[in-house]
Amino acid sequence: MAQDVQLSDADLEKVRALLNANYNPQDHQEAQELILGALQEVQHLFGWVPFEAARLIAEHLGVSENLIYGLLTFYADFRTEPPGNHFMLLCHGTACYVGGSQRLIDTLRDRYGIGADETTADGELTVQIVNGCLGVCDCAPLIHLDHVYHGNLTVESFVEAIENAKRNGPARRDHAAH
Ligand code: FES
Repeated sequence: MAQDVQLSDADLEKVRALLNANYNPQDHQEAQELILGALQEVQHLFGWVPFEAARLIAEHLGVSENLIYGLLTFYADFRTEPPGNHFMLLCHGTACYVGGSQRLIDTLRDRYGIGADETTADGELTVQIVNGCLGVCDCAPLIHLDHVYHGNLTVESFVEAIENAKRNGPARRDHAAH
């Protein structure tokens, strides 16, 4: 996990507030059941799960930090590094695969130097490749970039969507786990 990225006091307070509001287990069993939900809410808040937030969850629920880190490692949807300025889900489900999503993945590798769950060296773009279906197969192949769907993509329109997003400046950092 990225331990060198410090959360501000205001951000730590947001984590405490969501834990106090929704995560008050009656016993150890319930505490364990609440961990995933708390981690998902934190990821929704920041776009990733910062080390300090994970520690607060452990402390608040009375569970071991190792248990939390184990879950973060086990579930690929959790990000333990800050995402880039722009966040993309690239659908690689059946319809998108048939429609050419592999060409988009190849373009990410060749033009931007990134693969699944990676961020470009300039910190601009993070991609998550989704092997399930994003639910809009009519528009395959498609991506979800900074909260907007882009469908029926060719390599050209794919690159254009990315470059447009970069030109528009950093997006909001509240990317939910999917
Ligand atoms: S397979 Fe990509 S949206 Fe359904």
